[in-house]
Amino acid sequence: MKIAVLPGDGIGTEIVAQAAKVLETLRSDGLKIELEYAHLGGAGYDAEGDPFPPTTEKLVLAADAVLLGAVGGYQYDTLPRPMRPEQGLLRIRKRLGLFANLRPALVYPELVNASSLKPELVSGLDIMILRELTGDIYFGQPRGIRTLENGERQGFDTMHYSESEIRRVAHVGFQIAMKRNKKMCSVDKANVLDTSMFWREIVTEVAKEYPEVETSHMYVDNAAMQLVRAPKQFDVILTGNIFGDILSDEASMLTGSIGMLPSASLDANNKGLYEPCHGSAPDIAGKDIANPLATILSVAMMMQYTFGLADEAQRIEAAVRKVLQQGLRTGDIYEAGMQKVGCAAMGDAVVKSL
Ligand code: IPM
Ligand code: MG
Repeated sequence: MKIAVLPGDGIGTEIVAQAAKVLETLRSDGLKIELEYAHLGGAGYDAEGDPFPPTTEKLVLAADAVLLGAVGGYQYDTLPRPMRPEQGLLRIRKRLGLFANLRPALVYPELVNASSLKPELVSGLDIMILRELTGDIYFGQPRGIRTLENGERQGFDTMHYSESEIRRVAHVGFQIAMKRNKKMCSVDKANVLDTSMFWREIVTEVAKEYPEVETSHMYVDNAAMQLVRAPKQFDVILTGNIFGDILSDEASMLTGSIGMLPSASLDANNKGLYEPCHGSAPDIAGKDIANPLATILSVAMMMQYTFGLADEAQRIEAAVRKVLQQGLRTGDIYEAGMQKVGCAAMGDAVVKSL
């Protein structure tokens, strides 16, 4: 199991160090795990002048899976766009063909009060958002800023989805739904956008191959509303890149704890990049107060999706549940009466409960 480890920027180093402890524990229990480190994002720019340096590219192409912390930092905000950390992230997704982005929004019973919604609306919530990750307006050409004939400047981007792009991500979605509650909601803006009209047509076709799955379609504005009105109506949400970017942030906040949510980005052969849903949080970097659990849970997803080791995945998830039950909390999920711990102490506690 060759795992490329990319700590990235900000709190990335601290949280990835805790996840690495978990991987090392699995290794001492007998799994043949190899970890190799490289730079991504601002760290890549600082060390090698490129947010996705060739050395990193080589390493991730050879690896079976990638563990990523987070990228981004204030000091990079004024760099020309190709040098910004976010470009490193977009390029690695594209280069590895990671078209299927799984973002679960799961409410842990221990943390139900952390949500900004009423406990009865979110208790037991378990949604899987499947976001297409390598197409759409994120990568569409042409794009840019141009000057029109009348002399006015105009910014423009291109939204498009090809049939094969929609088909392959839809299949992943239905296969996930088959392993869950067999409910799939495809989200689009088919009342306005041609791209979305086409998306809906293809998803409807693919749905015929999964008659056991109850499929519905929803406009993205309604989906945004339904997510805060009655989120438990959803099981799997399938959507394009830009809508998925927005809806997955919204869904993560329903759980009250973005510091708890892992993600997986998969290619056609289940090679994957695993990272927490949250960002690099430069304001708290280096203070040993970040929550490492999303990154640790990303390792659980890696065991499940890339290595097919569902038992190991469950073991890691159970270890996380146990430290929560013991009352251990980092600052972002702290409640009165609980025991506040730092990032490294939380990592150690998970390793101990493993
Ligand atoms: C995400 C992030 C990225 C995205 C940014 C950092 C490029 O918001 O992973 O959701 O827009 O995809
Ligand atoms: Mg986002």
